[in-house]
Parts: sequence; C-alpha cells; structure tokens
Amino acid sequence: MRVGVLTGGGDCPGLNAVIRAVVRKGVQQYGYEFVGFRDGWRGPLEGLTRTLDVKAVRGILPRGGTILGSSRTNPIKVEGGVERIKENLANLGVDALVAIGGEDTLGVATALHTHGVQVVGVPKTIDNDLNNTDYTFGFDTAVTIATEAIDRLHTTAESHHRVLIVEVMGRHAGWIALHSGMAGGANVILIPEEKYDIEQVCAWVESRFKSEYAPIVVVSEGAAPKEGDEILVNQELDSFGHVRLGGVGERLAQEIEKRTGKESRTTVLGHVQRGGTPTPRDRWLATRFGLHAIDAVHAGDWGKMVALQGTDIVRVPLSSATTELKTVPLDLYEEAKVLFG
Ligand code: F6P
Repeated sequence: MRVGVLTGGGDCPGLNAVIRAVVRKGVQQYGYEFVGFRDGWRGPLEGLTRTLDVKAVRGILPRGGTILGSSRTNPIKVEGGVERIKENLANLGVDALVAIGGEDTLGVATALHTHGVQVVGVPKTIDNDLNNTDYTFGFDTAVTIATEAIDRLHTTAESHHRVLIVEVMGRHAGWIALHSGMAGGANVILIPEEKYDIEQVCAWVESRFKSEYAPIVVVSEGAAPKEGDEILVNQELDSFGHVRLGGVGERLAQEIEKRTGKESRTTVLGHVQRGGTPTPRDRWLATRFGLHAIDAVHAGDWGKMVALQGTDIVRVPLSSATTELKTVPLDLYEEAKVLFG
C-alpha cells in the first residue's frame, strides 16, 4: 500500500508528531510506503510531493510547523479539482490519503470521500473547535503560551496601574481565551459565543482597581460587542470563505480608557500561539492520533476521523466532525464569570 500524507489549513504545533507516528508505524508494522504531499490540498491538486520515509521523519517530534508545508487551497472551488486529484493519486500510485487538518481540510476530505477517494482524517486546530473530539492537538500549546503571556502581563499591569488587554486567537470559539484566562487569573474573559456589554466590562475593570489590583482582560479575536460585529482586518475572504479577524483588543482598550479614565494597553498574541515546539501533552495526543490513523488505513475504514473521547482514541465519521463547530457551552462560561471583576 502507498499512502499519501498532507497537512492543510493554519499550521499547529504537533503536526510533525502526527506525520512521524503515521510513517513510523506504517513502515514498521504494516510495510507501507509513503508519499508526502506539499502544502495541503495544493499537493494532490498539482502533484507536488516530497520523500516521506523513516529517515525523513527523524528528529521532527519536537519541531513546530509541518515538514510538509501547508496552505488554505480549496480544490473543490477549482474547476475539475476533484478529478485532477484523483488522476494525480492514480499516477503516483497512491492508494489512500491521511489528511491532517481542521474544519476546512477535513471538509474537503469528506467531499473527496464521497467521490471515492480512500481517506482518513486527523483533527488539528489550536482553536479546539472541531466536533466529536474532546481535544485537538495544538490547543494545549496555544493555551500554555497565552497563559505565560498573561502571567507576565500581570506584573507590568500592576506596576503601572494599567488595564492590559490580551487578544488571543479563536475565530468562532473561545476555548483558548477561556482556558488561558482562567489559568492566568484574568479579570475578564470575552469570547465569541456571547456578545459583551462594554458597561459591564468597565464595571469589572473598576472593581478590580478598587481591590488595588490591575485588571487583565483576555479577549478572543472573534468576540464582539452587543451592539456590533467582530472586527475584520480587511474585507477579503480566503478560499473557504473566512474573513481575517483582528483589532478587538485595541478597540476595547480605547473604550475602556475613554469610559474609566484608566490607562489601557493591548497585546495581540497572534501567530506566536501557533509557532514553536508542542507541549508534551500535544506531542502525546498527536502521536496517538497518528498511530490510530494508520490503523484506520490498515482497516480500510475510509471516511473516518480519529478522535479523542475521554482517554480513548476512537473513529468517527469525517462528516460529523465538520458539519458543526464545537463552541464553548454558555454554562461553562457562566462558571468562569464568578471570578470576573
Ligand atoms: O484556525 C486557526 C487560526 O489560528 C485561527 O485561530 C485564526 O483566526 C486563523 O487560524 C488565522 O489564520 P491565518 O494564519 O491564515 O491568518
């Protein structure tokens, strides 16, 4: 069996750990050969490959990013894209694909499966918003980086009696904000799942100053005020129809400063959350996903995604992971609010 592997969408710490586990177990246990596809779906679409053997995956476990490269190419939007992929797979003698990605990459995998491509999915996103899996790898690393930043910002906020706003990633789901905000003792956490009331935010900020402590506000990039929408960097859409978000932190700083008279500053963590080495927990999860993904290939269990449920790795239909996003339940958010202010 010849198996193609690709990584699509935004990169994420732990991708290399998955690739390594898939290749090592595939070669050692099943005697498979591998083809690395470059840059997400652009690889199979344009026939862009690289060598992927045991030697190629040596030493990559702790490395961030992906040795295969990534892109947000959407072959479904390309005329004849599905047929071109099928042709390229046939020409390269590739029998099956392991697609490692988030909602977009796995959405394409779902569509290709309905066109007869033998594909198994592995869920990845720092946002942790894929359905049917308790966690995705990359999330723990992003939360660790954000928490460390919040810890550092506390001391400078206190020295200057300032409000410090930390903008974290999270387009539709506030998992990173919620986890890092709670772990870092944030004064306010704002998430996309619930529009915020600026007056309430200012009340929480002022109450923190009353206890002679400086407030930290953690906000997801996708959070929006009651009377408005999320803030976009520009009007452009990517090939999956996504806008680029960013700027909510700065807007909050201006509003808070205007309404409370307290000096405010914003830190946007951005891609720092996605770069660098994965945490041990992410390496562990990514490795287990890889080991189980190649088992699914061996079992011919096409159209499935490996998923973490409790402590077990299970297989769920690819479509069930991508039709709906896993957002933060509002009762979980309520639980955190007790500590606001
Ligand atoms: O989906 C993961 C993610 O990091 C989001 O949190 C963020 O909105 C988006 O990707 C950023 O994408 P890009 O790197 O293409 O700007």
